[in-house]
Amino acid sequence: MSEKNPGSVEDRQADHGAGRDYSQVTTKVGYGPNSVTLRDNRTGAEAELPILSSSTGGFDVIDLGRLSGDFNRLKTLDPGYPHTASTVSNITYIDGEQGILQYRGYPIEQLAEQSTFMETAYLLREGELPTKDQLAVFEQEMADHANVPDDVVDVLYAMRNKHPMAMISAAVTALADEHPQSQVPPHHMIAKMPTIVANAFRISRGDDFMEPDKNRPYTERFLHMCFADDRGRYESNPVLTEAMDKIFILHADHEQNASTSTARTVVSTGADPVVAIASGINALWGPKHGGANQAVLLMLDEIGTVDRIPEFVARAKDKDDSFRLMGFGHRIYKNFDPRARIIKAHADEVLSSLHVQDEKLAIARELEQIALQDEYFIARKLYPNVDFYSGIILRAMNFPPNMFTPIFEQGRIAGQVAHMEEVVGKPDPITRPYQLYQGPKKRDFVPMERRDDEPGMTIVPDDHPELV
Ligand code: SDX
Repeated sequence: MSEKNPGSVEDRQADHGAGRDYSQVTTKVGYGPNSVTLRDNRTGAEAELPILSSSTGGFDVIDLGRLSGDFNRLKTLDPGYPHTASTVSNITYIDGEQGILQYRGYPIEQLAEQSTFMETAYLLREGELPTKDQLAVFEQEMADHANVPDDVVDVLYAMRNKHPMAMISAAVTALADEHPQSQVPPHHMIAKMPTIVANAFRISRGDDFMEPDKNRPYTERFLHMCFADDRGRYESNPVLTEAMDKIFILHADHEQNASTSTARTVVSTGADPVVAIASGINALWGPKHGGANQAVLLMLDEIGTVDRIPEFVARAKDKDDSFRLMGFGHRIYKNFDPRARIIKAHADEVLSSLHVQDEKLAIARELEQIALQDEYFIARKLYPNVDFYSGIILRAMNFPPNMFTPIFEQGRIAGQVAHMEEVVGKPDPITRPYQLYQGPKKRDFVPMERRDDEPGMTIVPDDHPELV
């Protein structure tokens, strides 16, 4: 039985029950050739599923939302979702094969070179670059709302011996509220994140909390809170400020990465978008994700000298060795990560302007060259990603490795807020995937007195061999 052709976009919305505006998605007219037919060869049942196209010629998707009837008991399995689109979004477009990254259609290369982080944050939220007046209003709003309540400051002090990622996650959670009328508007998190991240840095190194100086521009305000002495004295360095701003732009958004997807999942339950951002911060911390920039520096320190690179490249290729070349590989980019290219180009400029010699840059460059000529990495399309060089610049700015991921979050807050605002207005259905169950079949309860005799009942814990 083939699926009946669906009605209008409105019908599909009703079917999805999610109120999503599918009209924004180029649904090719009818199904006809723009469809796939799924056939269950066990029963002969068939389902015709529409193909939906991206507005930029990126991946088309099969709309599984139409699976029903004979296919109700057939689901799809895709651990980690390498073949699955979880939602529809208008914010960021990535083509991993071409190494393309665009925020609201603007290439990252142009934004990094010609824009500021405040302009980019506005663009991600509003969908258009701001006029001069719109930008001035936005920047003033970000200054006006840069403060955080005393209980957030208390949380930072209470967690001063923890990793700064734990500090900022807890501090953001402390801003969440259950009552919509008293919740912090999501975009105010762009204003408050510099105060939280910079003070996590200060307090974790034993310095006192520093209030945001609202007379300074956004990124300089962040650096002032990071590096001012206890009397608030700080001499801004335009090279440092520009490099920091560029790093924020490059990290601002990256469509459905693990941490942003986590935040979208949390907000799909109706939770406060602020606590959803805190959940995203926790996901970002992992070394396979935003924590990779810290892991890259630790890896370069462990390699130590150029002549030890072959040893580590061999380890990265060895399936029996858990070592991975941190800062290499990407789920989406099977070509160069455009952000890595930009950061690599600026690493030299920043280090020389800061009069910093970092032998790790030479090791990073040599490691990249060796890896890119190695069949293992070529066959798997493993290239340097955004994290490979960012840590070298951040260390040149006198940030310790444990501050690299919080700074990643400081840039990513703009994208996280844009995604929160995209879904809060038009909520996705609550995230609730299925699973393929392969555990025990139904069985009856076994009374305690019979358990020693029942076959398969004794699970011998490793640390209690006496229980055999
Ligand atoms: C970020 O998603 C995003 O957009 C993330 C991000 C963002 O802006 O939000 O771009 C930020 O997280 C960048 C990625 C930072 N992570 C790292 O640098 C950590 C090192 N990289 C790997 O852990 C890995 O490449 C991932 C996690 C990034 C991607 O892994 P995938 O897509 O799940 O690929 P995989 O693990 O299935 O690997 C495919 C093959 C495997 O070999 P085979 O089993 O096929 O023989 O490639 C190998 C892997 O063993 N491989 C690596 C490797 N990465 C993958 N081998 C050695 N070193 C590596 N780094």
